[in-house]
Amino acid sequence: MEKILFGGDYNPEQWPRDIWTEDMNLFEEAHIDTVTVGVFTWALIQSGEDTYDFSIMDEIMERLHAEKKKVCLATGTAAHPAWMAKKYPEVTRVDFEGRKHTFGQRHNSCPNSPVYQQYSQAMARKMAERYGKYDNIIAWHINNEYGGICYCDLCAKAFRNWLQAKYKTIEKLNEAWYTTFWSHHFYDWDEIVVPNALSEHYGRENVTAFQGISLDYLRFNSDSMLANFIGEKKHLKEITPDLPVTTNMMGLYKTLDYFKWAKHLDIISWDNYPPTMQSQARMALTHDLMRGLKQGQPFWLMEQTPSTTACRDVNPVKRPGVMRLWSYQAVAHGSDSVLFFQMRHSKGASEKYHGAIINHGGRNDTRVFKEVKQLGQELTLLGDAVVGARTKAKVALLFDWDSWWAVELSDGPTRHLSYQQTMIHYYQGLYKHNISIDVISIDQDLDQYDVVLAPLLHMMKEQLHQKIERFVERGGSFITTYLSGIVDENDQAILEDRPGLLKNLLGIRIDETDTLEPTVTNEICIQDGDLKGTYDCRLIFDVIQLEGAEAVAAYGKEFYAQTPVITKNRFGKGDAWYLGSQPDLPFLEKLFKKILDKHQIVCSIEAEDGVEITERHKGDKTYVFVMNHQEAETEIVLGEDYYSLLTKKSHKAGEKVKVASKDVLIFEN
Ligand code: GLA
Ligand code: ZN
Repeated sequence: MEKILFGGDYNPEQWPRDIWTEDMNLFEEAHIDTVTVGVFTWALIQSGEDTYDFSIMDEIMERLHAEKKKVCLATGTAAHPAWMAKKYPEVTRVDFEGRKHTFGQRHNSCPNSPVYQQYSQAMARKMAERYGKYDNIIAWHINNEYGGICYCDLCAKAFRNWLQAKYKTIEKLNEAWYTTFWSHHFYDWDEIVVPNALSEHYGRENVTAFQGISLDYLRFNSDSMLANFIGEKKHLKEITPDLPVTTNMMGLYKTLDYFKWAKHLDIISWDNYPPTMQSQARMALTHDLMRGLKQGQPFWLMEQTPSTTACRDVNPVKRPGVMRLWSYQAVAHGSDSVLFFQMRHSKGASEKYHGAIINHGGRNDTRVFKEVKQLGQELTLLGDAVVGARTKAKVALLFDWDSWWAVELSDGPTRHLSYQQTMIHYYQGLYKHNISIDVISIDQDLDQYDVVLAPLLHMMKEQLHQKIERFVERGGSFITTYLSGIVDENDQAILEDRPGLLKNLLGIRIDETDTLEPTVTNEICIQDGDLKGTYDCRLIFDVIQLEGAEAVAAYGKEFYAQTPVITKNRFGKGDAWYLGSQPDLPFLEKLFKKILDKHQIVCSIEAEDGVEITERHKGDKTYVFVMNHQEAETEIVLGEDYYSLLTKKSHKAGEKVKVASKDVLIFEN
């Protein structure tokens, strides 16, 4: 690719042709080179069982080709037409409460409906047959934001088949689900019903009597949607084998195991809609996760709003400079694109107030348009500089959907534990130090890392603990927390003292785990050394016995005061740390600094809090992104000589450089 892709979701089918001309002029002005089209055109194209009319897509594709725009072409299968739902009610979903949905909204198709599968695949095939010849298509965009869960009878049947394929015998299933508990023994596959509010769940999706069945249902649902993706992909690849396929993921999205999905995508792409204006760390983590899905391969930022969302209770606009800053943040973490939803404000329905590059008046002088245009210019000037560049991280965060599901499905020890919030919290402790972090699956090799952080490593699968032991033995630092190491892949307790399979590595034993309201704190007390002090911790409190490890810190309160809360165990040439409670950030930041220092992992640029720095590498070039998220101007101190790509200035090591509020600098050396 000759430059970072710039553009986004475009729905010309909603507009008369004179508006298309206006759009094209404005795209040109804003340096927009890429559009995603066809995401929601199914009903326009297919008016009945065998009646297809592609004339609108034909016109769109011709026009975009003539205008030399790159196209990310959707298969358009995320919202089935109304006639289909009327004729085949099976295509709509049944929800968690057991309510059969009628036609409406989008993403409402049952993944196991043969009718949906057949028609969505037919549509993908027809799109490929018809448009595969266009040389300006850069990728297939299959469906859109796969997600949700269906509990219909077709899914129930498919679930039983999935279970049969997985367990082979009903006895194996009974063992895996621990069905001697509460008289649940199954004698026949047909006795199994879907786990929802009518069966195993107490009103809420996370509250189940049987973790085994609920966990398997999440795996099954993720696999079912993945099968939809693979079904469409198969047709596309038959006709256009060289075109990459993607689908836009949703980042920290619990329902789909993206590590499993990633193997089937050529390009990872995702939609970044952070919940608050203070989501820098969360976004950084999510970008790192998206990059980690395919072992460091650059990804695409498929959607972000240029200004505001519309679906939340309040929808703040991105303040001046923030759209540019967050766009570069994506690039800094490995994106080769800056794409938006949407190009033009929708005229009606639920996204008419959703931010767009072009407003209802079609102006080129709004603040949003002007900021987009400025960014478009910059990215054009940047050319291919960072495109394809990789991240070299010495630090990894382990992320696992199975652990996410299992830890939140478990009754006890606390309902206040959110896997997502926990991952963000611990990531933040590292993020502050402006070092590169890979977010990786538990299947990945640890060889390239010096530090591995694994909060809530709840589920131990296969030989994971041995891999971690080898990593520590050869000199790595491993850090884990409460609720790690203790269940197997079926969410059954490992019959060992806690922390189960990590006990040996950590050199500790846990007999009790106390949990209190999140507002109640205990203390982490350290008498001497570089971590000396008293810090708050909360949520979970493991009562730890030392079995070889040393106590780094002791609790300050409760009947377990003066017993260990943080431990460290020498193991081979490395060390394994255990955090028995959730420290507030000040402690985490200090602890991680100490561990990073040990491995000489430091950022060569000195900066104050709120300034994010991260690197990408290509050939012998390093690109350093400096992003000032603060409200105030700041000053950084360079550790090396650099050329600043956006300001076109050379700087020497030791030099102090000012960075305005919300500004970005890209250094090259
Ligand atoms: C999602 C979808 C888009 C649009 C945006 C609005 O990301 O993929 O079609 O609805 O949300 O934020
Ligand atoms: Zn279904």
